[in-house]
Order: sequence, then structure tokens, then C-alpha cells
Amino acid sequence: MRILSGIQPSGALHIGNYFGMMRPAVALQTEGEALYFVADYHALTSLRDPEMLRANSRRVALDFLACGLNADRATLFRHSDVPQVTELAWILSTVAPMGLLERAHSYKDKLARGMSPNVGLFSYPILMAADILIYDSDVVPVGKDQKQHIEITRDLAVKMNETYGQIFKLPEPRIQPTTETVPGIDGQKMSKSYGNNIDIFGDEKEMRKRVMSIVTDSLAVDAPKDPATSTIFQLYSLVASKDETVDMRERFVKGGTGYGDFKKQLFEKLWEYFAPMRKRREEILKDKSYVDDVLARGAKRANEIANQVMDRVRKAVGLR
Ligand code: AMP
Ligand code: TRP
Repeated sequence: MRILSGIQPSGALHIGNYFGMMRPAVALQTEGEALYFVADYHALTSLRDPEMLRANSRRVALDFLACGLNADRATLFRHSDVPQVTELAWILSTVAPMGLLERAHSYKDKLARGMSPNVGLFSYPILMAADILIYDSDVVPVGKDQKQHIEITRDLAVKMNETYGQIFKLPEPRIQPTTETVPGIDGQKMSKSYGNNIDIFGDEKEMRKRVMSIVTDSLAVDAPKDPATSTIFQLYSLVASKDETVDMRERFVKGGTGYGDFKKQLFEKLWEYFAPMRKRREEILKDKSYVDDVLARGAKRANEIANQVMDRVRKAVGLR
């Protein structure tokens, strides 16, 4: 089984990225050949500072390693170290119906948030399909927001197979039901671009501040509260044990505890939960060349697979 996923280097990683994608990706690395990449080509649709793109790309790789990616098992690489993927994106674009892309939620969302509608942003799902298909991927661990992109990938694979004969496998999304959409401090989907993120590797003061600014209703301390609609409770249940979660639920329902206290409790748990990752990050940072070495090794392996698949594709479509 081949497992593949990508993450954009558009800024610091947040706990939505961690629970939606990185934790499942780390869990899957023992189940087959895992390939994970830093999607720098994708980030170009929104990030126009070259130094920042380079720095963010290394940082995302570092953070992913700190979060448990085992470079002896999984392949970690930079998107742009496999430029063949842009060739495949071109080939896929020649069979992609406009309507399929016009229906893409993420494009519509980005426009609604005022991003300029460049062609790259519009055709992003085609590049993402190429990312997946070029490694003969079986399983793609992602958060729910990426589900439609995997459906588009499957549609494009089917189109290619119908047109040129069996070239591509059809990948399956792997979306964790309990963490498919992690809420941010305003209760909407956590996202850097909404400014509602809690970063994994921010300092203690910063994380505390973010947690303490989680939006709540204005119920009094004594009032019973609804855990099901509470961002505090939802985040707490991601990082606390079963017993601790049950205990917090009871205290919500019973009343008598204010949101401020629940937030403090959430902060303590979150900080503790990510402590081993922070420690590992410090250790990795001591070896100046570690991240670059991992990425170089990753690029080599990713290229081996991509070259094989591209040979097949070029032959099938008549380029060789
Ligand atoms: P991105 O930062 O958009 O590149 O996202 C990287 C991965 O994290 C993708 O698989 C997303 O689906 C996942 N992800 C991002 N935000 C969330 C969230 N709030 N809840 C669950 N998964 C998320
Ligand atoms: N589009 C994904 C995101 O924004 C990142 C991504 C790019 C990806 N290519 C991919 C994820 C291929 C899975 C597979 O989160």
C-alpha cells in the first residue's frame, strides 16, 4: 500500500493540521510505503516572498519530523524536487472539464476571502491530482476540507484511463471522523487564513493567549453549559484522556465552572500534549544538516517512483 499526503508551507503549523493530517499520516507510516511532501509549488499561489517560502518549507519539514514522522520509514520531500509533477498536471489539464474545477469549494472559498483569482489557484486541484497520481498512491490521509480534491483526482484518473487505457490507480481519502474538522478559536474550521489558529510550536505565552481567547457564549459561571457546541470541550477531548474528557463533560453539564477555568485546563493539557514533540524538535535542531539530509534522501526516492509512472504516462499518451 502506498500512502501519500502533502502540506502547504504557508506558515506555522496549527493543531488542525496536526489532528486532521499529521497524526493520521504518522500512524499510517507503518502500514505501507508512506510519502509526505511539503507543497511548495502549491504555496506559490498565495505566498510571494521567496525567502519566506524557502524558510517555511524547511520549517514544515522540521515540524513534521518533530511530530513523529520517522524518516527511516517514510519519505519526506519537497514538492519542487519532483518537477515532473507539473508535466503530469499539464497532461491531466488536457482532459479536465472546466466545470469540474469551477465547482471546487476551496477555489470559491478563497475568492470569497478576497484572494486574487490567479489561474494557479483555479487549477490547483489538477496539480494536487498529479501529486497523488504520480506516486501510484492508494491512500491519502487529509482533513475533510480536502475530500473534494481527492474526488476530483479520482475523476481525472478515470478520464485518463478511459481515454488512454489503464494508467492510474484510484486513490482513497483517509479522513478521521473525530478530527476531520478541528475548530479554531472562533469556532469555525481552524485555518491560518482565518486567523483563528493555535500553533503547535508557538511559545507558552502565545499558546495560552490563543486558548484564553477562544470565543464562548456568555453564560454565567453557575449555568449548565453545552459541551457539544463548545470549542473548548472539542479541543480538550483531542488531547485529554477518556476519563478527563468525561470529567470535563460532567462539569459542563453540572454548571458551577466558568469558561475561564475550562480554558486554563485546556491550555495545560495542550501544552503537555505537545511537550514530547517540542523536545524532539529541539533535538533535531541540534543537527544542522538533518532536515536537509532527510529532504535530499526523500527527493531521490520520490523521483524514482515519479519517473517510472511518468514513463508509463508519456508512452500512453503518445509523447514517446
Ligand atoms: P493546509 O495547511 O491547508 O496545507 O492543510 C494541511 C492538512 O491539514 C490538510 O490535510 C488539511 O485537510 C488539514 N487541515 C487543515 N486545517 C484543518 C482543520 N481545521 N481540521 C482538520 N484538518 C485540517
Ligand atoms: N491541498 C492540500 C492542502 O491545502 C495540500 C496538498 C497538496 C495535498 N497536494 C496534496 C494533500 C496531495 C494530499 C495529497 O491542505
